[in-house]
Amino acid sequence: MLPLLSLTLLAVSAVAHASSFPFHFESRDETPTTTTPATVDMVAAAWFAGWHANSEPGFPVANVSWDKYTHVTYSFAVTTPDINTLSLADSAPDVLPTFVSTAKQHGVKALVSLGGWTGSLYFSSNVATAENRTAFVKTVVKLATDNNLDGLDFDWEYPGSQGIGCNVISPQDTDNFLSFLQELRQDPVGKSLILTAATSVKPWKGADGQPLTDVSAFANIFDYIAVMNYDVSGAWLDYVGPNAPLNDTCAPSANQQGSAVAAVKAWTAAGMPSHKIVLGVPAYGHSFTVVADEALDCTSDDDLIASFPPFEKAQQPKGDAWDGDGGLDQCGVQQGPGGTFNFWGMVANGFLNENGTAAAGIDYRFDECSQTPYVYNEEKQIMISYDDAQSFAAKGKFIASENLRGFAMWEAGGDYQDILLNSIRAASGFQDDDGGDC
Ligand SMILES: *[C@@H]1O[C@H](CO)[C@@H](O)[C@H](O)[C@H]1NC(C)=O
Ligand SMILES: *[C@@H]1O[C@H](CO)[C@@H](O)[C@H](O)[C@H]1NC(C)=O
Ligand SMILES: *[C@@H]1O[C@H](CO)[C@@H](O)[C@H](O)[C@H]1NC(C)=O
Ligand SMILES: *[C@@H]1O[C@H](CO)[C@@H](O)[C@H](O)[C@H]1NC(C)=O
Repeated sequence: MLPLLSLTLLAVSAVAHASSFPFHFESRDETPTTTTPATVDMVAAAWFAGWHANSEPGFPVANVSWDKYTHVTYSFAVTTPDINTLSLADSAPDVLPTFVSTAKQHGVKALVSLGGWTGSLYFSSNVATAENRTAFVKTVVKLATDNNLDGLDFDWEYPGSQGIGCNVISPQDTDNFLSFLQELRQDPVGKSLILTAATSVKPWKGADGQPLTDVSAFANIFDYIAVMNYDVSGAWLDYVGPNAPLNDTCAPSANQQGSAVAAVKAWTAAGMPSHKIVLGVPAYGHSFTVVADEALDCTSDDDLIASFPPFEKAQQPKGDAWDGDGGLDQCGVQQGPGGTFNFWGMVANGFLNENGTAAAGIDYRFDECSQTPYVYNEEKQIMISYDDAQSFAAKGKFIASENLRGFAMWEAGGDYQDILLNSIRAASGFQDDDGGDC
C-alpha cells in the first residue's frame, strides 16, 4: 500500500517539476531528444552504512524511512588486491540480503556502493588493462547478480587523484574507468543495472591532471551522479569552514573551497545534464576546538560565532558515539578521532534540542553565504559546522530551481526523526505521504 502510494506521488512530483522547466529525457544510447517530455522520476536517495546496522548504538535496516526514498545504497563493497573480489567484510555482509529484500518490498531500488574513502585502493589497477577490465566487469556483475541488486554505485575516491594516501593511481585512471564502464554496459546484466557514481565536486581529472572538460561519455553511462558536496571544509584546513556549503562565491576568496553552486556549474559546463545530477548532502557535521576569543565575534552585540576562525589542530574533539578514537588507517597511518557528529549525535550531546534547533546556552549562527549553520559550546570550546532543517531546505530549493534530479544523503542513519530528510524532500518537490488519494 505505502510503496504504491509513494510511487504515485513521485510520478506526480516529476510532472510538476517538468512543467516548470522543459528538461528532456535522454535515453542511454540515443542522441538527446528535444521533443519527449520529461519522464525521469526524481531521486530521493541515501547511503546505508552496513557497519552501523549492528553497532551499538545502531541503525538497523528496519529503521530506514523506506517510504521516503526511491534509492538506498548499501555501503561499502571495497576493492581488494584480488581483482575477483569485492569485500563487504567490514560492512556486515550478513545484513545485505535483508536490506535488499526490505528495499524491494517498499518499491525502493537497492544498490551497493563500491569503494568509498577507505575502499578505493585498487580501482586503478582493476581497470588498468583490457584484460583487467574484463575481469572486473565479471566481478561487479557477480556482486549484483548474487545479491539481487538493482544497481551499483561507483564511489571511487578518486580517479586520477590520490584519496586516502595509498591508492594505486595512474594518469589514465579516468580514461580507463570510462572504458571499463562502457564494457560493463555491453554486458547482458550490466546493461540494465542502475549505474551511479559518487563524485568529487569537480569533474574527475583527465590524463593531463586537469578536471575533465567533457564528461558527456560518462553522462551516457550513468543513470545519475551524486556530487558529494560535503567535507568541503574540515580539520585539514587552517580554519573552521562550512562542511557542505550551498554557495561560496560570496565568501572571501581564500575561503572558497567549493560548493553546490560551483559543483553543479562545473559538472554541467562539462556536459553532465542537470537532470543526471543528484546533490550529495550530509546528515553530519565536523567539530573543532576553538578558543572563545577566536570563536566569538565580539564586535557583534550578542555573542555571534565568528567567520572562519582558526582552531586548535592538536585538540580534535571526539565526535558522537559513532566516532572512534582513531588508529591505523588502510594505509597504516595513525589517525586520531574523526570528530564527526551525526545530526542525532548533536541532539544526544546537547548541542541541539530534540526538534533540531540549537539548545539553550549553545551559540548558533546561520551563515548566509554558505547557507549552513554553526554551533558553539563555550564551556567545552567545541564548534561544529553542520547542516540543519534550514540548510537542507535551502539545498532542496536549489535542487528544484536548478532542475537537479534529487538528493542523496550520507548517511540514512545520521538523521534524527527525519528532520533533515523531511526538510529536503519538501523543498526539492517531493510530496509527503499524507495518507491521501490511493
Ligand atoms: C529504531 O527504531 C526503533 C523502533 O521505532 C526505535 O525504538 C529506535 O530508537 C530506532 N533506532 C534508531 C537508531 O533510530
Ligand atoms: C591487473 O590486475 C592484477 C590483479 O589484480 C594486478 O596484479 C595487476 O597489477 C593489474 N594490472 C595493472 C597494469 O595494474
Ligand atoms: C551564490 O552567490 C552569488 C553571489 O556571490 C549569487 O549571485 C547567487 O545567486 C548565489 N546562488 C545561490 C544558489 O544562492
Ligand atoms: C524547539 O524546542 C525548544 C526546546 O524545547 C523550544 O524552546 C523551541 O520553541 C522549539 N522550536 C520550534 C521551532 O519548535
